[in-house]
Amino acid sequence: MTNLPAAAFARYDDSPDEQFYAVTRLVTHIDAEAISSLTQLYRELFPADGMILDLMSSWVSHLPTDVQYGRVAGVGMSAEELAVNPQLDEFIVQNLNREPRLPFADSSFDGVGICVSIQYLTRPVEVLREVGRVLKPCAPLAITFSNRCFPTKAVAAWQMTDDAGHAHLIREYLRSAGNWGTVESLDCRPHRRRGEDPLYAVVARKDAEAA
Ligand SMILES: C[S@@+](CC[C@H](N)C(=O)[O-])C[C@H]1O[C@@H](n2cnc3c(N)ncnc32)[C@H](O)[C@@H]1O
Repeated sequence: MTNLPAAAFARYDDSPDEQFYAVTRLVTHIDAEAISSLTQLYRELFPADGMILDLMSSWVSHLPTDVQYGRVAGVGMSAEELAVNPQLDEFIVQNLNREPRLPFADSSFDGVGICVSIQYLTRPVEVLREVGRVLKPCAPLAITFSNRCFPTKAVAAWQMTDDAGHAHLIREYLRSAGNWGTVESLDCRPHRRRGEDPLYAVVARKDAEAA
């Protein structure tokens, strides 16, 4: 378990997430340059022909379009957004704050991405333990984030800290989940120009020994 108190996961808007995500948002949450850096990160981490999971997905997955994956599955809150995502082969609508258990077999994915969304999880340790369960040993998880969010839906622990603190928080979630091996923090846009969005990543690999 995490050492963080329950108050760390309080939100201004603690109404059911289904209400907030009833509004379809066909928008991007980071600028084109940050998306390009994200796509490059995915290109480097996720193997061609591999099984990929886009967790907390929407109408875009930001995967390279010139790489063929074996299967891309999406999990998110909006059926309307997921249905028009051209990179998904299948999707599931699931509120991870209500049900953190993922409906996939053990060791079934070669890579998982969580893009600009980790701050909305109220049970992140349970979800990340599940991500570890469904990943193959040593396969990568890329958790990416920028410097903005839907503030009413982000947990208190996220709101209280800065970019470096966000990376530390994610690393604490992974440590608490207990089934991760190497963990690396990256600044994916160290040379960005003024006004451009930052993009940071915490990349973890499933522990080789974990079930
Ligand atoms: C800022 S959007 C990012 C979407 C997408 N990953 C992207 O890069 O554009 C946040 C996403 O988190 C997902 N999300 C938020 N709360 C969730 C929850 N309780 N359970 C599952 N997914 C959730 C929503 O589906 C939403 O699409």
